[in-house]
Amino acid sequence: MSALKQVLIIDDHDSMRAGLELLIRRRGHATMSAEGGQEGLRLLDERGADLIITDLKMARVDGMEVLKQVKKSSPDTEVLVITAHGNIETAVRAMKMGACDFITKPFRSEEFAIKVDRILREREERLRLQQENMALRVENTYLRSEAEDGGTPYGEMVGESRGMRRIQRFVERVARSDSTVMVYGESGTGKELVARGIHARSPRHRGPFVRVNCGALAEGVLDSELFGHERGAFTGAERQRRGRFELANGGTLFLDEISTITTATQVRLLRVLQERELERVGGEKTISVDVRIVAATNTPADELLSGDDFRDDLYYRLHVVPVTVPPLRERKDDIPLLVDHFVQKLQPRTRSQAKGVDPAAMKRLVAYDWPGNVRELENVIEQALVLAEGNALLEDDLPFLPNLGAGAGKAASAGLPGEGVNLDKAVDGMEEKLIRQALERTGGVKAEAARLLGLNKSTFYAKLKKYGVQ
Ligand SMILES: Nc1ncnc2c1ncn2[C@@H]1O[C@H](COP(=O)(O)OP(=O)(O)OP(=O)(O)O)[C@@H](O)[C@H]1O
Ligand SMILES: [Mg+2]
Repeated sequence: MSALKQVLIIDDHDSMRAGLELLIRRRGHATMSAEGGQEGLRLLDERGADLIITDLKMARVDGMEVLKQVKKSSPDTEVLVITAHGNIETAVRAMKMGACDFITKPFRSEEFAIKVDRILREREERLRLQQENMALRVENTYLRSEAEDGGTPYGEMVGESRGMRRIQRFVERVARSDSTVMVYGESGTGKELVARGIHARSPRHRGPFVRVNCGALAEGVLDSELFGHERGAFTGAERQRRGRFELANGGTLFLDEISTITTATQVRLLRVLQERELERVGGEKTISVDVRIVAATNTPADELLSGDDFRDDLYYRLHVVPVTVPPLRERKDDIPLLVDHFVQKLQPRTRSQAKGVDPAAMKRLVAYDWPGNVRELENVIEQALVLAEGNALLEDDLPFLPNLGAGAGKAASAGLPGEGVNLDKAVDGMEEKLIRQALERTGGVKAEAARLLGLNKSTFYAKLKKYGVQ
């Protein structure tokens, strides 16, 4: 037991008081004593107490009255009542009023000492749990508010393309299980949204969703972030800290950018994934955790497996139920839906008048290839909303959208004819066509046309000459 305990004895018999005080001091606790209820309550008020031991039958303010007052003014203080032999009814009444236990006169000193020790030990344990609960509640509130900052807190995945429907069905299905899920996909495709969606639809949705960005943390920091540390585990570890695995207990742990972790951390992680058990950094106690794991990476599965940096055994532990979120350029049907979604979502924040998108602007948005996927689209819409002056987004509001991308997108979708193609000729043909289009659009202003094509002036002039364009 830590810290000195303060015990207050209230009894109107001098010899009894003295005897009890002696017993309790021998157990290593501090004591104070009072002859009657009134004095006892005053001492409690002045100095506080962990435990009060009071006789029930006293003149003036009796033990029942003391109990009533203590539970009102100092509910964390335990009360042990001393009852006369054969008066079990009073004892029961005292327990109902909040006494933690009773002891019947006459009693042996050994019996008394054991009771006092047990009461103090249980009280300490209860207070510790209360404190932990409170800390956990604060942490959960923090985690939840972090989740809601994401805009689409419960993982609303916009999209009706085949690729997106497949992902939505997948999320519904795997949410029911506890299996580890590995989410693959290029940057900005919505991997985190998939992870949050799985958690939100799972039986664990009332538990925490905890994200760890493995790529953003240095090795040592990542270890203590994931597994926690004991006080003094390393310089600067001034207090004990629970790791993300423990914080995610009962919920889902999202290991983002998993491919970046070092070999040492991989080994530790492997053990937790296998045993669902861990030790904090610098600690010896084994802690069991109940977490569902979702991991994500933008390194494709085959590269992860063939490379030297990622352990095969860890790969197989994570790659239990894999899914790949397709890049946006492979599900262009979703672009208009996503554009509308982001206009609605971002319009209030950008204080824009625009509530829709002009068809020409939409056409360009659909044509572009979106190497940064949905995140890039979201950024472009936000920028456009800031620029837009009318009540619809126009092409002019999209100066950030690279023009070459549009052409490249069309070129890529041209497809290879069955009989094959002369690549040089095809490329030349495409180039000439794009140059003529650019000049048309700029009304013949060459500098502008060169900019539209992402070319410097001299290259542009060289190409004009090559194709004989005036
Ligand atoms: N289908 C979708 N519907 C609505 N919003 C989406 C969709 N997909 C992605 N987003 C949004 O696009 C942004 C990027 O998504 P997310 O963070 O999930 O991508 P990611 O794959 O984790 O990217 P990175 O690899 O860069 O971390 C987020 O703001 C997310 O809300
Ligand atoms: Mg992400």
